Amino acid sequence: MSKIFISCALPYANGPCHLGHLRSTYLPADIYARYNRMIGNDVLMVCASDEHGTPIAVKADNENIKPIEVSKRYHDMIADDIKSMNISLDNFTRTTDERHYDIAQNFFLDLYNKGYIYKKDITQLFCENCNKFLPDRYVEGICPVCGSEARGDHCEKCGRVLDPTELEDPKCLTCGSTPVIKDSYQYFFKLSEFQDVVENYIDNNINLPPNVRNYAKNWLKEGLNDWVLTRDMDWGIPVPLDEALGKVIYVWGEAFLGYISSASQWSDETGIKWEDYWNDYVVHFIGKDIIYHHSIFWPALLSAYGCKMPDNIYAGEFLSLEGQKMSTSKNWVVWISDFVDQFDPDLLRFYLTINAPLNKDTDFSWKDFQRRNNDGLADVIGNFLHRTFTFTHKFFDGKIPEYKGPSDEDMEFEKLIRELPDKVGEFITDYEFRDGLLEIFRVCKLGNKYFNDQEPWKAVKENPQKAANTLYLSNQLAKTLAIVLKPYIPTKADAIAEIINIDIPEKWDEAIVPLPAGHEINKAKPLFKKIDDDVIDAQIAKLNETLKITEEKEDENMSDIITIDDFDKVEIKIGQIKEAEKIEKSDKLLKLQVDIGDEVRQIVAGLAKFYDPEELIDRKVAVVVNLKPAKLFGTLSEGMILATGESGALLTPDECEIGERIQ
Ligand code: MF3
Ligand code: ZN
Repeated sequence: MSKIFISCALPYANGPCHLGHLRSTYLPADIYARYNRMIGNDVLMVCASDEHGTPIAVKADNENIKPIEVSKRYHDMIADDIKSMNISLDNFTRTTDERHYDIAQNFFLDLYNKGYIYKKDITQLFCENCNKFLPDRYVEGICPVCGSEARGDHCEKCGRVLDPTELEDPKCLTCGSTPVIKDSYQYFFKLSEFQDVVENYIDNNINLPPNVRNYAKNWLKEGLNDWVLTRDMDWGIPVPLDEALGKVIYVWGEAFLGYISSASQWSDETGIKWEDYWNDYVVHFIGKDIIYHHSIFWPALLSAYGCKMPDNIYAGEFLSLEGQKMSTSKNWVVWISDFVDQFDPDLLRFYLTINAPLNKDTDFSWKDFQRRNNDGLADVIGNFLHRTFTFTHKFFDGKIPEYKGPSDEDMEFEKLIRELPDKVGEFITDYEFRDGLLEIFRVCKLGNKYFNDQEPWKAVKENPQKAANTLYLSNQLAKTLAIVLKPYIPTKADAIAEIINIDIPEKWDEAIVPLPAGHEINKAKPLFKKIDDDVIDAQIAKLNETLKITEEKEDENMSDIITIDDFDKVEIKIGQIKEAEKIEKSDKLLKLQVDIGDEVRQIVAGLAKFYDPEELIDRKVAVVVNLKPAKLFGTLSEGMILATGESGALLTPDECEIGERIQ
C-alpha cells in the first residue's frame, strides 16, 4: 500500500469555477484519487483557494471593498462548485488562513537565512497620484513585444511574461495616470543557482509527462534567472523581516505552500501525519499555464528548503468553448454552478473525460456534449443496463439466474468482463483517464452486441439456459460497471449499485466477486437519459446572448465617435480660481478653490510643474463639474480643470461669465 499526496492547483479567489478548471485539474485529480482509494492506497487530496495577488486587490479597489471580502466571496463559491461536482478533497482551505501565513513566513525566513534570498535595488513603476508602487496587474499598457494591450506582468496575446517597466504607455489601473519609474528594493530568490538541480530533477524523473518535461527543458535551455519574490503592496503575506516594512511575499512565493498548509490543517484535525504522504508519492495536478511554476520554480524552492520534490506533475492542456478561447472577462465561459443547475454533474465529468486526453487542447461544445451523452452514455451504457435489468425482471423474477454450460460466446464475454477492471485500472494508474473510459465503452458496446446476438427474448422459450447465461453475465457486467465507473461518474455508479441491490462498492477488487445466482435486484429505472435539442439550443442561445452583449460593449468602447448625448453627459462650466496652494509631498499637484457660479469647489489639479500658485489666482478656467469626486494624496477633489496634456496650458475662457455652461 502506498500513501499518495494529491494536490489540485489553487484556484484564484477572484471568480467562481468554470469548465476549464474542472477539466485541467479537479476532475483528473479526483479520478486518480478515487481509483487509488479503491485499490487500497492511502490518499490525501488537498487544495485551497489562492487569495492573494493583484487581481484580487484591484477588484476590491474597483468595488470599494476590502480584498478579503472579495476573496471570501469567491472562496465560498469555489467551495460550493467543487462540492457540487463531487470532487473528493480531504481538505480545502484558504491562503489567508493564519497557519498558511506562519508556514509561508517561516519558509521565506528559512531561505533568507540560508542565503537563497537576497535584497537588490530595482526600478519599479510608481503612481504619484495614488502614491503607490504598481506591481503586476496594477498597471496596463502596450506589450513591447507584440504591440497589443497588456496587463502588468503578462501579455495575454503573445503569452510573454513582462516586467511592468517594459510596458509602453503604461497607465495606473486605479486612476489612469502615467506612472513614473522609481527606485526601490525587493527580495530575490536565487533561482539561477538551481539550474543544475532542476535539470537533474527533470532528467531523472521518468514519471513526468511529455508536455511538462518538454516545456521545462525549453526553459532550462534559456537559463534560469533569479525571481523577484516580494512586492510593495498591502495585500499579501508580510515579508517577515523588520527592515521590510510595507513589503509582501509575491503570491507565487507562497501559494504553493497552500498544498502544505492545507495538508497540515488536515493533520491537526485527523491526527495523521501528512509528511508520510508527501514522502511516499506526491503528484500535483495543474493547468498547462502554470507548468513553469511547478516544474522549475517550485522544485527549486523545495530543494532550497531541503524538502522532497514532487514525484509527478500532471498538466491538463487548454479547453476552449465553442471553438473560441474562454474568457471570463467577456463572460465566454460556462460556470460550474450554471451547469449543475441544469444537468447532472456526472454528465460533465463524463464529457470532459471522454472528449480528449488531458495532454491535448480541446473544445467544449454544447452540440458535442449532447452527442456524447446521447450516443455514448444513454445509448451504449444506459441501454445495456436498462435491457439487462428489465429482462431480469421480466423473465427471471428479478433474480440472477443460474450460469451453466456456457457457450463459446458466453465464455468470451465472461473473459471481457473479468479483464475489464484491471485494464481500466492500468489506464488510470498511467494517468490515461480517457483511455480507461474508452475501454469501458468498448466492453459495453460488445455487451450490447452479445445481448443482441444471444436474443434472450427468443431463447427464453426455446433454450432457457441460454437466456439464463446471457442475463447472468449481463448482470455481472452491470455490477462491474458500478465499480469501474465510480472514479469517473461516482453518483451514477452508486445508482447502478442500488438497482443491483448491493452495498455501494468501496473497493476495486469487489468487481471480481460475482453476483450469486438467486440474488434479487431492485426495480429497473432509466439512469441515463437523452438530452433534447431544445435544452441544448437554449444553452447555445444563452452563450450567444452574452457574446452579443460583449460585442456591443466593445463596439462602444472601440469607437472614437461619440454622440451628442455622450457629450452632453459632461458638464463643463466656467469657473474662476480663487485660491491655490501646493500639496505637500507632490511635485505635480496643486489644491485649488474654484468659484463655479453657484458654489466654490475644491479641485486638485496637476498644474504645479507649469504654474506657481500665485499665477493662477483669478484666472478663468473651464471646469468639468460632474466628475465623480476623488481623493488625491488624501485631498478631496470635486472636479477637473481643463488643460492640455503636454504643456499644461490652461484653456482660458476670458470672455465668458463665471458659471456659464459649455455646450
Ligand atoms: N492560483 C494559481 C492559478 O490559478 C495557481 C496556484 S497553484 C499553486 O494560476 F501552486 F500555487 F498552489
Ligand atoms: Zn494611480
